Amino acid sequence: MNSLKYLFVAVCLFAIGAQAQQSPQTGNEPRLPKGVRGLEESTANPPSPNWLLEAKDDEQRFQRIQIYAGGTYEQMWQIGYRYEQVYRAIIDENWELASHHWKKLRSVFDVALIKRPRRTPNAEVMFLDTMWAQFEEALQGGDTEDIRQTFLTEREACIACHVAEKMPFLNDTPVFRDTASFPSN
Ligand code: HEC
Repeated sequence: MNSLKYLFVAVCLFAIGAQAQQSPQTGNEPRLPKGVRGLEESTANPPSPNWLLEAKDDEQRFQRIQIYAGGTYEQMWQIGYRYEQVYRAIIDENWELASHHWKKLRSVFDVALIKRPRRTPNAEVMFLDTMWAQFEEALQGGDTEDIRQTFLTEREACIACHVAEKMPFLNDTPVFRDTASFPSN
């Protein structure tokens, strides 16, 4: 019974905390960020947390969604994460997990290309239409050494595209450094 009571108090405190976080009473006037141009004309005055519904019309709403969706980087962030998960899955010889992340990585890449179509030629030629399938096939084959070697070739494709897209500095990071080889079994 006692522990139930504690649980109840904990839940209440959490709810109050969450409420406080949602609407902190700083007394500051709400205003739009200076960093995004053209927002003022499209907004109810004063702006509220109802950021999408308060826009003047659907055109303005779509504009906000587009701003919110960002550029390639939003998906590349996730691609970096899934790429690392694939690397770890290979060490664990968990081919199904590797394939899961590898497929998601591809879908997410296509989303990036809807937003940044100038990246599509390099993305498809250097990776999606070429290299991507090789690793999927290696996984289906189930040969550890082949899977490891093919993954390292995929790594080269990621790196080459960053160079082709004139952002070679993206390669000098732990994401690529830590996946340059596999520990021996
Ligand atoms: C079109 C060729 C292309 C390919 C292929 C590619 N990338 Fe990228 N990547 C980019 C571009 C362009 C950016 C910078 C995007 C931006 O800042 O808008 C980027 C950024 C990144 C970032 C930094 C994201 C951030 O801002 O936090 C990571 C991590 C990354 N890529 C990982 C990978 C991995 C892993 C692969 C291979 C599975 C890969 N990329 C394949 C073009 C590519």
